Amino acid sequence: MSDPAILVTGAGRRIGLHIAQRLHQDGHTVIAHYRTLTAEIEALAKQGVRILQADFTDSDTIFSFLDQLTTLSTDFRAVIHNASAFAPTDPDPIIAAAQYQHFFAIHMLAPYLINQRLQAHLTGEADNPADIIHITDINADNPTAQFDIYSATKAGLQNLTLSLAKQYAPEIKVNAIAPGPVLFAPQHSDTTRQAMLAETYLREEGGAEPVYLAIKSLLDNPFITGISIPVDGGRRLSKR
Ligand SMILES: NC(=O)c1ccc[n+]([C@@H]2O[C@H](COP(=O)([O-])OP(=O)(O)OC[C@H]3O[C@@H](n4cnc5c(N)ncnc54)[C@H](OP(=O)(O)O)[C@@H]3O)[C@@H](O)[C@H]2O)c1
Repeated sequence: MSDPAILVTGAGRRIGLHIAQRLHQDGHTVIAHYRTLTAEIEALAKQGVRILQADFTDSDTIFSFLDQLTTLSTDFRAVIHNASAFAPTDPDPIIAAAQYQHFFAIHMLAPYLINQRLQAHLTGEADNPADIIHITDINADNPTAQFDIYSATKAGLQNLTLSLAKQYAPEIKVNAIAPGPVLFAPQHSDTTRQAMLAETYLREEGGAEPVYLAIKSLLDNPFITGISIPVDGGRRLSKR
């Protein structure tokens, strides 16, 4: 029988991919969810990581994902909710309404339904409860105005962290990690990048590894639940 699995959502690229790769390197049994098939996720599959495709558009696609997931494993050590969509709110209210539903499905509904289904299947160690980790954003507390819908749904996920920390204790710890920013998005211009770095006290684009180190510290620590850890080089202190 294999060890309890760690599910990572949105593991096809960038931070989610890095988290899945590092957990695998550290000897965990990983199930990597992806939406778009990438060479990197195929390479992970060749190394023995189980991969599962789903587009978290609505409750139907999420329930279908869960039905497939529980055929791969019924024993989980942790769930890392990393899948996310990122865009400014469209000025057209009809497009903004569709965006709201899209962001809600990925940032709030999918984590909620996945956590609810896996709660009974999450087992920790003798002296260390299981883990649910929500990857949020420093925008949950201090949003950039043009990203109001993105930020509001990330704030919803941050709030869900608190409810579930209460509900799922003492068997499961539930925490959030709030990056901001650690990897620039392709759409960030040079000017935007320089402005973000100017607001970041540690003056660097931190990269995906600091997010992984925060995950590892939560997995290893048996007495932390219901918190949000900013991984932001101090940007939340100066961000306008
Ligand atoms: N990068 C940063 O500096 C930063 C800053 C603050 C917060 N964060 C948070 O950190 C996490 C990772 O960031 P990132 O920059 O690596 O994100 P990213 O590049 O936008 O990747 C997001 C992942 O989620 C998947 N995804 C998107 N829409 C989906 C859907 N409808 N159903 C299922 N999966 C979907 C993507 O799949 P596809 O490849 O198919 O699109 C991708 O694998 C996110 O939660 C993000 O909000 C990141």
